[in-house]
Amino acid sequence: MKIKVCSCGNCFYKEIDFSGFEVQKCGCLGFCGFGPIGIIDSKVIPINNKLLEKLKTDPHILDSIESLNFDKDNKILMRDNDLIDPENIDTYSFKALEKALTMDPNEVIKEIELSGLRGRGGAAFPTYKKMQMVKAETETPKYVVANLEEGEVASFNNTILAESNPFSIVEGIAIAGYAVGASKGYIFVNHKAKLALKRLQNAIDQAYKKGYLIREDFRFDIEIRRSPSAYIAGEETAMLEVIEGKKAFPRNKPPFPVSKGLFKKPTLINNVETLAAIPYIILNGHEFYTSFGVEGSFGTKMISLTGNVNNPCVNEIPFNIKIKDIVEKIGMGYKEKNKGFLIGGPSGGILCQSIEDYNYNYDDISKAGGMVGSGGIFAIPESMSVVELSKYLMEFFSEESCGQCIPCRVGTKKITEILNDFLNGKDLPYNLDEMNDFIMNVSLCGLGQAAPIPLITAMKYFPDEFKQKIST
Ligand SMILES: Cc1cc2nc3c(=O)[nH]c(=O)nc-3n(C[C@H](O)[C@H](O)[C@H](O)COP(=O)(O)O)c2cc1C
Ligand code: SF4
Repeated sequence: MKIKVCSCGNCFYKEIDFSGFEVQKCGCLGFCGFGPIGIIDSKVIPINNKLLEKLKTDPHILDSIESLNFDKDNKILMRDNDLIDPENIDTYSFKALEKALTMDPNEVIKEIELSGLRGRGGAAFPTYKKMQMVKAETETPKYVVANLEEGEVASFNNTILAESNPFSIVEGIAIAGYAVGASKGYIFVNHKAKLALKRLQNAIDQAYKKGYLIREDFRFDIEIRRSPSAYIAGEETAMLEVIEGKKAFPRNKPPFPVSKGLFKKPTLINNVETLAAIPYIILNGHEFYTSFGVEGSFGTKMISLTGNVNNPCVNEIPFNIKIKDIVEKIGMGYKEKNKGFLIGGPSGGILCQSIEDYNYNYDDISKAGGMVGSGGIFAIPESMSVVELSKYLMEFFSEESCGQCIPCRVGTKKITEILNDFLNGKDLPYNLDEMNDFIMNVSLCGLGQAAPIPLITAMKYFPDEFKQKIST
């Protein structure tokens, strides 16, 4: 009997005894909370040794098991995860690169423009604009750097993307390189993401062997660089410093990396999910991509859904579906009564329960005070204190601050202490808002600039939890 098994880190399929089965590895199917997940006779089901033992003697027991809904049609980047063996390039095609090489580089960039693709690493900057800027630079060599630092708490979607389909990332970098005139690409990978590292290296090696990256008319080199695994190392200029062999200290901007990036040369920096979308846009046309989502938020988003849900997981959704549908369909409902969400990772907003009626798209989420960010959605159970949550996040920023600027280094530590004291019965200082403003306005990089957002939004949406006593 044939069985396909999710071979991503979350599913730990090695603990299963597959003797008697013909096993094929596949990518993430989006049910990490119920893993290991397998596909037998096109049914997506949680597997365990007991079930496999029974199936050997009675394959008909499958008839009584309901398949989980992989929902292929609503996916792009994960769409073929049931078919792709992440370690075998022959289960993926490099046809998008083939097609891109027949197009003029400007046409490739135009297609990205028409697709409406925006950066998936956090800032949501239109991808084509960065490409145009790098292409317009005359200095050479030019570089493409793919960001897979993913040092945020509770974010795994980039790692799972690389574990499931490393080929799309490699192909995306090569197409982007062709479009902007770059000759070399780096993939910056969190050193803790060991399986992703292994599969990306394997994908690069196999792509070379197959001749996809070295042709008569096109040569593109790709190397992996390991990140020291620090949240700040994911900030684009800190990442460049690390690749150059220096400390993860963000640079002052301008100049921007598009003109003076890696080794002071024009550099296109994108998140791996942004780059992985490019082959699908080129191969199927922008119309395919814009058939998902809504104006301003076309396409799909990979998410890390965690917290108070029955299926904490990585998954992919088309933009513009309601948050309550994400919880129902992807998260399989709340575990207990829910009171709100942290949307957009640690520097996102702590928002109240009514946000579940909002559509998940860039505009609506930012109107509510959150952000799509890199795709973190954390459901907050009624039993969790948002003051504790705010303190935890502020402490995270304090620990991850690179320390270059005082407002961020001292401010995040001070506010952590203030919240700690508050939890121990002390008053909040009257000038807390001013302190938050100061950190946001004076910090050099996005870490300090966004650090107070969870606290500010928590105070707005959960005033009762902070009301205790505000001193005057
Ligand atoms: C503190 C901090 C950490 C970041 N970490 C990441 C990261 O892990 N991955 C990522 O793609 N972008 C991260 N970013 C955003 C990058 O600086 C950059 O905007 C992004 O890689 C650009 O890619 P995109 O346009 O495809 O989103 C981080 C930003 C900050 C301020
Ligand atoms: S804002 Fe914080 S993390 Fe960013 S450069 Fe300043 S000290 Fe470093």
